[in-house]
Amino acid sequence: MYTVKCLNPISNRGLDLFTSEFEVIDDLNAADAVLVRSASMHDLEVPDSMLAVARAGAGVNNIPLNEYAEKGITVFNTPGANANGVKELVVAGLLLASRDIIGGVNWVKENAKEADLAKMIEKKKKEFAGNELKGKSIGVIGLGAIGVLVANICNRLGMNVYGYDPYVSVRSAWSLSRMVNHSSSLDEIYEKCDFLTIHVPYMESTKGMIGKEAVQKMKDGATILNFARGELVDDQAVLDGLASKKIKHYVTDFPNPAVAAADGVITIPHLGASTEESEENCAEMAVDQLMNYLEKGNIVNSV
Ligand code: MLT
Repeated sequence: MYTVKCLNPISNRGLDLFTSEFEVIDDLNAADAVLVRSASMHDLEVPDSMLAVARAGAGVNNIPLNEYAEKGITVFNTPGANANGVKELVVAGLLLASRDIIGGVNWVKENAKEADLAKMIEKKKKEFAGNELKGKSIGVIGLGAIGVLVANICNRLGMNVYGYDPYVSVRSAWSLSRMVNHSSSLDEIYEKCDFLTIHVPYMESTKGMIGKEAVQKMKDGATILNFARGELVDDQAVLDGLASKKIKHYVTDFPNPAVAAADGVITIPHLGASTEESEENCAEMAVDQLMNYLEKGNIVNSV
């Protein structure tokens, strides 16, 4: 019998997979394994007997990987399981940046009870006019599970897609090549793209990768989309870029107080993977990995 503690609510689609050999318990100290979504485990004391942690999501920056490696705790994540949910929100981010949907919706709500609303709309609507995505250039930085889906959908929207990933395999590069212009340098992306979307993991080497230098190299009026991790973007560089109009919008799924209220920033409260489908997929994959490891010793995908 194995015991599992859930540090966040985990979809029943995953929990229902547990066989009678597994029990979900409340006491972390008595748990053989942990299922976690976004809760930080950095300051959490876990028992020495802990065998595994499965993250129902892709990013693992909420888990102290080095400490757990020393303790012999195997860590799993679920890359790709929520990629479609994130991709769809990136499309929403592109539309929120290029059309004044937020301004328009708020204005209608404020004036919904006005008797002459139809006339008011006729006068007002030119203020909400925007631009189309078709024909615009987008740089997709990071061509993993999410980046590839984003590149694909942007291509279908008629955008001119530039991809950059120093680690992308030749095979994936080949299958992407019909829709993506492979850039050998980030500079090319900064120089050419109207939109720039980041899909790389947060690590020491990627921290603040979109900083002052990167912003300066960007096309005037570029929009940055960040659905990966807040720490990848240097807040001050973005604030300066917005103030000088170098940057038109910063669309971020990470409500960092330093930027969230600034003009030109569109912040979403970390909803990329918050769909029923993504939560189910992640839970299924995480539970499957835990069972495979604890019962059979199989490591399907560890971090
Ligand atoms: C991820 O890293 O996959 C997402 O941030 C997951 C989440 O929202 O839980």
